[in-house]
Amino acid sequence: SIDISTFMKQTGMTTLDYGFANTAATRSSVTYIDGNAGILRYRGYPIEQLAQGSTFLEVAWLLIYGDLPTADELAAFDERIRRHTLLHEDLKRFFSALPHTAHPMSVLSSAVSALSTYYEDSSDPNDPEQVELTTIRLLAKLPVIATYAHKKSLGQAFLYPDNSLSYIDNFLKMNFGILAEPYQIDPTVSAALDRLLILHEDHEQNASTSTVRLVGSTGANLYASVSAGINALYGPLHGGANEAVLEMLARIRDSGEGVRGFVERVKRKEEGVRLMGFGHRVYKNYDPRAKLVKESADAVLAGLGVNDPLLDIAKELEQIALEDDYFRDRKLYPNVDFYTGVIYKAMGFPTRMFTVLFAIGRLPGWIAHWREMQVDGSTKIGRPQQLYVGEPERQFPAR
Ligand code: ACO
Repeated sequence: SIDISTFMKQTGMTTLDYGFANTAATRSSVTYIDGNAGILRYRGYPIEQLAQGSTFLEVAWLLIYGDLPTADELAAFDERIRRHTLLHEDLKRFFSALPHTAHPMSVLSSAVSALSTYYEDSSDPNDPEQVELTTIRLLAKLPVIATYAHKKSLGQAFLYPDNSLSYIDNFLKMNFGILAEPYQIDPTVSAALDRLLILHEDHEQNASTSTVRLVGSTGANLYASVSAGINALYGPLHGGANEAVLEMLARIRDSGEGVRGFVERVKRKEEGVRLMGFGHRVYKNYDPRAKLVKESADAVLAGLGVNDPLLDIAKELEQIALEDDYFRDRKLYPNVDFYTGVIYKAMGFPTRMFTVLFAIGRLPGWIAHWREMQVDGSTKIGRPQQLYVGEPERQFPAR
């Protein structure tokens, strides 16, 4: 017996698979998804149990190293990350050189790329110690970069990390604290953000993770690979959907056409009109993360005393879609992005930061996949085939 790729090579056959809908590019033991049954597990643990009982950093360890950490391992991991939160002072000038109107996702990917200029001699993908150090640096610095992007857009002074605080609380303080003024962490917000980030930590071979792997397969370092992943996540069909959902809900509110009117336009497939936050390449059933996010949305808004009509519009939209054959036949259900934006808004994040929050959540997954690829002996440079449909040979005119 021979494997399929050897067989195809010998027979000269090529598969045309738009969007890689049926092509596995790797074996992986990080995350399991059964899209028909609505199951998601990280390293074998159901997402519902992790969201209920774990923390973002514990799940990060689980994804990256394969098993749950002991209490000592987790404490040492947390401590090491806290010691690496500072950015090089010169990077402040990098941020100030960008326009304040820059989208924070562009700032994030550029700054992560820039990190590799500071650590070029310590980011060798083939040196396990350097990979370990880069892992810690990225986990420590990405949230800090994100807050700089946020502060820059507001025209406010950057805050230094407060390493006496937990990962999430430090991030909240750096986003919402004002220089030289005390900042009170709201435990409702902190717990909810931790939970939301757990739900985003990995999702097997999605577009951004595949990008991280593809770039990594060339031997590029982890900073370069993650920066590429952030750019892939930016698109509205991927991570950018959480931002697009909120814009869609606000448009429905302001247009006066009503939720049903909007749904009819979606069904008529009017140019550019999609139900953002609905549908998924893998889930053909309710996205298990969306269920958990929906529970959080109610709890967080109630806890913060926020009454947002956009949440009511979202719920009405979901109800109408769930009862409509158009969406049922196409197996279109809310995905993780559908309710996250409403929660982030209630926490005080501007819409343009939503996808940045997704990136912070997804970072451990990107790292886990990149590292898995490095130690997998069967990894090859990613290089898809094509079916050429252009001109046959032509003669350049004699001049
Ligand atoms: N609204 C309306 N119709 C939709 C939607 C949607 N959100 N998604 C798919 N459809 C329809 C398509 O028009 C198509 O209908 P047809 O068979 O009549 O032509 C059918 O469902 C299949 O759609 P595809 O685009 O082929 O599905 P695909 O698996 O390629 O796309 C995707 C998946 C990109 C997520 C899509 O559902 C979408 O655009 N959703 C909105 C954006 C979004 O929420 N993205 C976040 C995804 S999750 C994440 O990244 C965290």
